[in-house]
Amino acid sequence: MYDVLVVGSANADLTVRVDRRPGAGETVRGTDLVESAGGKGANQAAAAARIGGRTALLARVGGDAFGEMLLAAQRAAGTDVGPVIVDAAARSGTAMIIVDPDGDNSIVVSPGANAALSPQDVAAAQDTIAAASVLSLQLEIPMESVVAAAAAAERAGTRVVLNPSPAPEAALAPELLAVADPLVVNEHEARQLSGHADGSPAEWARALREQGARSVVVTLGGDGALVLDASGSEDIPGVRVKAVDTTGAGDAFTGALATRLARGDDLPEAARFAVRVGAAAVTKPGAQPSYPTLAELTAEVPETPAQG
Ligand code: RIB
Ligand code: NA
Repeated sequence: MYDVLVVGSANADLTVRVDRRPGAGETVRGTDLVESAGGKGANQAAAAARIGGRTALLARVGGDAFGEMLLAAQRAAGTDVGPVIVDAAARSGTAMIIVDPDGDNSIVVSPGANAALSPQDVAAAQDTIAAASVLSLQLEIPMESVVAAAAAAERAGTRVVLNPSPAPEAALAPELLAVADPLVVNEHEARQLSGHADGSPAEWARALREQGARSVVVTLGGDGALVLDASGSEDIPGVRVKAVDTTGAGDAFTGALATRLARGDDLPEAARFAVRVGAAAVTKPGAQPSYPTLAELTAEVPETPAQG
């Protein structure tokens, strides 16, 4: 039994901090290069495992040093990496990341082995999907594999948490949207997928639910989140922290949310917890290296009583 199975990407993050982003044809000098474990799928899994969720990851890594680093990071977090496929002929996914003084990033991803995570790989993991309370998905692997995983979860009665990131150019497949419970979107994804370039988080969430999502969480960075499900909508207050590096904060939120839903929280309770995990993640450099254990979370971002 798992609380959370993540099907998704794993990337080696190659990060340099800069004073300002270079323009076209321009060269700027950055800090020393930092290599760390990332990738939206692997990040979700690490976040879930670090806070004590029984977690497994289905991903593909290359037979290279980055692949070993990515596996070691998952094992250290406590993730079951049994389903991870090591593809000796491929390079691991790699993300080239620059972080500016505000902690905001620009990322270029080279998919590598992630591009080969196939519907057949997903079919082979059917029993693992059925053995999980929650399946957590993002969009850094082939879309047909995401759709296959969502369908397998639906057949098995496994709840699906979907973070449609990176935001797709085209609309989400209706069968994918229809199993999202919740769909977890940031402001950019909410505008793009709801079709409302303007509007408010509540309007985006309502539109996405009308399009078929079972429930919706709009993440709002330091302003918290808005949740909408069958019992109504709720504003989840933010936690103000000094942002050092926001890379992977959304993945930390989603992994934490999935874990708490698996443990029986309702959506607002799970989101309140996930906001704290996301806040803790932005206070430290990198994606996975910044994810808190439960003890660190309690010390760094104490629980605040629910408002209202
Ligand atoms: O969401 C953050 C992640 O996006 C990074 O870890 C990087 O690998 C890219 O996948
Ligand atoms: Na971070």
